[in-house]
Parts: sequence; C-alpha cells; structure tokens
Amino acid sequence: MSLLRSRFFQAVLVLVVAFGILRFGIRPPAPWSVFTLYMAIVLLAVLIYVSSDGDAWREFKRPVWSTLVDPDKRAIRSALIVMIPLLLGYYAYTQAAAKPQAPPELRAVHPAPPASIRFRGKEITIQGLENPLRKDTANFKVNVAAGAETYIRNCVYCHGDNLDGRGHFAYGFNPPPANFEDPGTIAMLQEAYLFWRIVKGGPGLPRESTPWNSAMPAWEDRLTETQIWQVIMYLYDATGRQPRRWETS
Ligand code: HEC
Repeated sequence: MSLLRSRFFQAVLVLVVAFGILRFGIRPPAPWSVFTLYMAIVLLAVLIYVSSDGDAWREFKRPVWSTLVDPDKRAIRSALIVMIPLLLGYYAYTQAAAKPQAPPELRAVHPAPPASIRFRGKEITIQGLENPLRKDTANFKVNVAAGAETYIRNCVYCHGDNLDGRGHFAYGFNPPPANFEDPGTIAMLQEAYLFWRIVKGGPGLPRESTPWNSAMPAWEDRLTETQIWQVIMYLYDATGRQPRRWETS
C-alpha cells in the first residue's frame, strides 16, 4: 500500500500505462511523431504533478536519492550501473546495425536498339530510319490528332493524361512508366528508337537490360505501322520536344 502512495511509483506507473495505451491501445498504430508528442505531454504533466509543492517534490526525489547514496542500496546501484550502459549500447547497436536490403536493380534504361526488327513479317531497319509521316507536312495536324487518339485508347492508363508517366496503373509498376515530359526520355531519343520500343515493348528489351520487369506492352499486334508513327508524332507535339536526329557523318 505504501508503494502505491509513493510519488515516484505513481509517476512511473502513469508513464508505463500511458506508454502501453499509446503504443498498443490505438489501432491503427499512431505515427511515431504523434506517439512521442503525446508521451512528452504525459511526462510534462507527471513532472508538474510531482513538483507541485515542496513536500511532494521531496517525496518524489527520496527513492531516487536513496538509491544513489544509501549503503543498503548498493546492489541495485551496481546493477543499474551495468544495465543502463548495456541498454544504451544495445539501442545504439540496433540503430547502426546494417539491415538486410534487396540489392539494387542495375539496368540499362536506354539500351542500344537493334539494327533491324521484324514487324508483321516485314524487316524494318532501325539504323538511320526516319518517321515517314514527317515528310507529309500538309497532314501534320491530322497525323498528330490520330496519334492522340491512339494514345488515349492505349497508352494513357500507364503514361498518364499529361504524358508524365502517372496514369491510373502507373503506381503498380516497377520500373514506372516513362515520363515523356522528362528531358531524359523522348527528347534525347530518335523516333526510330521509340518505334522499336513501342513495337517490341518490355519483352523486346535486350538481355543487357535484365533484370528487367518492364510492364511496357509490345504493340506490334495491336497497332499498325502508321498508327505507331502517328502516336510518336503526338508524343513530341504534346510535350513540345524535338526528336533526336541521326548524326550525319
Ligand atoms: C501497362 C502499362 C503501359 C502501357 C499501356 C504503355 N506503356 Fe509505355 N512504358 C511502360 C513502362 C513501365 C515503361 C518503362 C519501362 C520500359 O522502358 O520498358 C514504358 C516505356 C515506354 C517508352 C520508352 C521510353 C524511354 O525513355 O525509353 C515508350 C516510347 C513508350 N513506353 C511508349 C508507349 C506508347 C506509345 C504506348 C501506347 C501505345 C505505351 N507506351 C503504353 C508501360 C506502359
């Protein structure tokens, strides 16, 4: 009974109960920052309570003081002197110890394209290939509009309304769908490169790009050659980027 009336014991009891409730009593668990904030408030309240007047404060200090100086508490003292550094050391160890982590996936994001590909039974040379629709300047707008339609029907789910790679499905994929607004994608690629990537998709990536789990579909069975060149024109037109040119040597 005297234990329950001891201020020190009461303070410890309140802290332990508060810890238990905040840590394990709240579902779903409160974030760590909220938890520490509430614990700090409880601690503050407890300190105010035990120091509300001189007697209370003296009473609170007594067991702490007696543990530190009384000859008959020597055993507890020695135990604390060993335990506290051990606990701190263990805490430091858990913070610093290396945690097992999945190795990073090294992949060539833009591997060299093949010299030529087979598309619907036809051999297409990628090296030096230009977008044939570019010559038809009179129908530029028509082709871009047709490309936009192809894009909205097929690509928007992954590559997004704003061509920024944030379509509805985008968050389910690793690697994420390409962000065409990023200067690191279509702005530094040739149209022939895009043609190859759209025709063959993730499955068509060369071995040097493995491990690779690209969700980019191969469109060769769904889109015609013209539709693919049109969607490429749309990508450049909508982002305001220019395709990279073949170096003339
Ligand atoms: C199922 C989701 C999905 C759909 C649908 C999709 N893509 Fe992709 N696409 C991806 C992912 C993921 C990547 C990134 C990985 C890669 O390069 O293979 C990608 C990459 C690309 C790249 C390569 C960009 C670069 O920088 O190398 C092009 C070009 C591309 N997509 C065009 C298209 C076009 C055009 C369509 C529509 C006809 C389309 N995609 C539809 C998921 C998709």
